[in-house]
Amino acid sequence: MDDRIGTIELRGKRALVVDDEESVLKFVTEALALDGLEVVACSGFSEAVEAARRNEFDFLITDLRLTDGNGIDLVKKLQEVRPGVPSIIMTGFGTLENAREAIKEGVCDFVLKPFDRNELITSVNNVLQRQILSEENAALKRLAGLFEASKAISAIVDVLKLPHLVLGSALSQTDGARGFVLLMDGEENQPKLASAVGWSDEEVEAARDKLAKHPIAEAALQGKLMLISRDAAHPLAQVKTLERVDPIPAKFILPMGDGEELIMLPLKSHKRMLGALALTKNGKAATFTRGDLQILTILARHSGVALENSQLFADLQESYVATFKSLVMLMEARDPSTHGHSQRVTMICDELTQEMNLSEDRALTLHYAATLHDIGKFAISEFILNKKEVLNDEDWEQIYKHPEIAYRVLEPIRFLADAREIILRHHERGDGSGYPGGLTFKDLTLADNILIVADMFDAMNADRAYRSHMRPDEIMEILEGESGSRLESNVVAVLQKLFREQRLPARR
Ligand SMILES: [Fe+2]
Repeated sequence: MDDRIGTIELRGKRALVVDDEESVLKFVTEALALDGLEVVACSGFSEAVEAARRNEFDFLITDLRLTDGNGIDLVKKLQEVRPGVPSIIMTGFGTLENAREAIKEGVCDFVLKPFDRNELITSVNNVLQRQILSEENAALKRLAGLFEASKAISAIVDVLKLPHLVLGSALSQTDGARGFVLLMDGEENQPKLASAVGWSDEEVEAARDKLAKHPIAEAALQGKLMLISRDAAHPLAQVKTLERVDPIPAKFILPMGDGEELIMLPLKSHKRMLGALALTKNGKAATFTRGDLQILTILARHSGVALENSQLFADLQESYVATFKSLVMLMEARDPSTHGHSQRVTMICDELTQEMNLSEDRALTLHYAATLHDIGKFAISEFILNKKEVLNDEDWEQIYKHPEIAYRVLEPIRFLADAREIILRHHERGDGSGYPGGLTFKDLTLADNILIVADMFDAMNADRAYRSHMRPDEIMEILEGESGSRLESNVVAVLQKLFREQRLPARR
């Protein structure tokens, strides 16, 4: 009876056959050769390990007892040298205990001696068939993961978040140890480290200076696929498009361990080079496979498109903001005493965020908010803006509306959704005495408090239609007096420090 689980093409498959009995070795070699298989025959453990190091095989057939070792240990050893290659044990001592131990160690099938050619071919066929099924299964699982990762990558338009997501997906899809992403800086045309996982902050910091002229970074950024590995018989060694580097360069971008290998793929859109994705594997049996390369190639292609889109989106954001900036300048021209106010407030906010550890995201949001914070003043008549007399209640009513007007004007622009929340609150005060909401500290974020203090400082530091600028000691006194009550005390303290260090924009 034919008990094969399916028939596959055996012609051209390569077998490593190990037995210390010459007659068995001869019989198996001839039996397999009749079906077109290529055989490397070895008479013992050490010889087989050497052969496995030098050549690629589709499967192993070994005797259970060898003169210089045993078959199960050979199966284990082979998994280190050639991970995933299936094994068949030939034995005349087929006990249940042997079988149990062998299966635990990854043996796929047994043939009991004495066996005929049909039994042998059936076993080989079944083992290779199961191998194909399990590879397909694993590939399907990875494809499902890849599909999810690609979906997530395509959905992100934030140019700052995308490199982290790409790197995270690449690491999890390939069981990578650590990695980094380089992106070309549009303005300087130099690579920048956009994300790194697995190295210390100091190592990442030191890497920033090594990027510009690093040959491996340059090669990847010219579109080459790079592999740094010491393994001469690497599974990817035959990939024609891959360029190998051996050994690890002493001054690599980021430090690498002795047994660590690294693969670096270009990230590109159909038009231009955008950057590179680098991943490492480390430790025993951790090596990049063809499956990994396939997954990474797909991921890199998707990431390239997503990066291009996110950069276009960032350009679009910039041009939006540039348009609004022009509007702010036009608006400030209506009230010469506020000329340059928004720009100076933005510079003060940028300085404060640097000192106060705001996240990159939040700092950018605050930057936009500061740039546009007074855009609602468009609705205030020029007469009130330039009035030299004391403002009456009606005048103030108009002025009180400008944060809410800005909030409404900016509503259709999705990427300014968080910035307009900050703009709405830029005249609030911690004790509830501000407008329009009469909010208190518990309702105000750090970004809100930074803009409030920066705006108030610049207003006092500049001439106004109804008064000239205040003296620095007067400004500091007022800030001090309101610290902790109307103004957030930490922000005030940092602003005072920046003022003392002359890091704030000078009065116009
Ligand atoms: Fe304002």
